[in-house]
Amino acid sequence: MRNSITAAALLGAAAVSAVPQWGGPPGGDHPWPPHSRPSSTASAPSAGQTPFSFPLSDGFPTVTPALLENIAEAAHGLIPNGGLASQLAAGSVTIFELIAFNEIFEVAFFTSLLNNVTTNVPGFEIPSQTLRNYIINTLTAVVAQEKTHYLGVNGILNASSNAGIIPCEYVFPTSDLDSATNLARTFTDVVLGTLQDAQAGLAANGDAEYIPLIASAVGQEGEQNGYYRSLLNLIPSAAPFLTRSAAQFAFSALNQLFIVPGSCPGPANAALFKAIPIFSPLTVTTANIALKDQPISFSISSNATESEIASYSVVFVNQQNVPFVASITNVKISGDVVTFDAFYPAATLIADALTIAAVTSSKGPFGSVPAVAAATLFGPGLIEIN
Ligand SMILES: *[C@@H]1O[C@H](CO)[C@@H](O)[C@H](O)[C@H]1NC(C)=O
Ligand SMILES: *[C@@H]1O[C@H](CO)[C@@H](O)[C@H](O)[C@H]1NC(C)=O
Ligand SMILES: *[C@@H]1O[C@H](CO)[C@@H](O)[C@H](O)[C@H]1NC(C)=O
Repeated sequence: MRNSITAAALLGAAAVSAVPQWGGPPGGDHPWPPHSRPSSTASAPSAGQTPFSFPLSDGFPTVTPALLENIAEAAHGLIPNGGLASQLAAGSVTIFELIAFNEIFEVAFFTSLLNNVTTNVPGFEIPSQTLRNYIINTLTAVVAQEKTHYLGVNGILNASSNAGIIPCEYVFPTSDLDSATNLARTFTDVVLGTLQDAQAGLAANGDAEYIPLIASAVGQEGEQNGYYRSLLNLIPSAAPFLTRSAAQFAFSALNQLFIVPGSCPGPANAALFKAIPIFSPLTVTTANIALKDQPISFSISSNATESEIASYSVVFVNQQNVPFVASITNVKISGDVVTFDAFYPAATLIADALTIAAVTSSKGPFGSVPAVAAATLFGPGLIEIN
């Protein structure tokens, strides 16, 4: 129930977001994310659906030389064929584990989407043959490109004597092409924000040799997102600077929305779940948020008292701006369901594109998005405006 609300809120979403964080002094081994806290219980994605699981029919993620060649041809390019570092800082290992964790989720999502379009699952039929062929060609390349990202990152982990990420089981909250495309552009926006965090972390950890590789993937995911946006009749480029995210927000969103709890095997997943907290869900209950100054309504599951809830803040992170801190008003408690509002001056801030909302234990002010994440109790609430 809670998950379907979270997913519905995400799908109905409209926009917002944050501040640059340039990492610590180079050369040290800075933990990443910088302020881990113990994981809270993640809400469980709904069990009503048969989960998507690996291996795929061709054996992936196990690969043979022949399968690697097929993937490279479909991806229009190779896994980078240069040498890889034999050592990584511990924080950088977490960075690559999280990236691989996200990439293999993307393989699952786009494989499911491509199957649905190819087999004309109700809700995924595309009447125009020309458009249908173009979307199938596009998704065929995207699936292979995400596989290549995943294999490349696991290769980086392997070269530094770290175990690779093994797939989990996944459920998707979408059952038609429009909602799946809207979800794809939303989680891709979260990825694009989180790769900013990854680059800052690699720089701080002394593993800067991988920053250009990450930048090449940022552009690649941005190309994808421009197409998903254009399918939704949105302009391809959402805003001058895309929204900053943090590892905890990405990891929380993936677990809250898609991952079947307890389905992630192997030592690399175990290390990742230990390193990055999963916040309690924050549901945005206002639907179709437009670019205007307005109260936004939220709901959480909590047994905190009204005065405790009122002492928290809602922080809105959009583009590269200073996180906007809003007071909590209109608190209503019914059992363990708590609803409240926070005023978001989206029009004044011209907060188009993704906004990440978070309930924090303090009022800040927050100098960076990682600082917001370090104080977060509930989140992320994902809002897309235009
Ligand atoms: C594909 O279709 C199935 C059946 O409707 C649905 O459960 C699943 O979420 C769809 N996949 C995506 C990525 O939307
Ligand atoms: C790295 O990959 C090789 C070849 O697949 C494998 O034998 C080895 O166990 C891997 N190393 C780690 C640390 O997983
Ligand atoms: C509040 O909820 C938490 C987490 O579910 C639980 O551990 C705690 O015991 C609860 N506290 C009260 C006073 O019910």
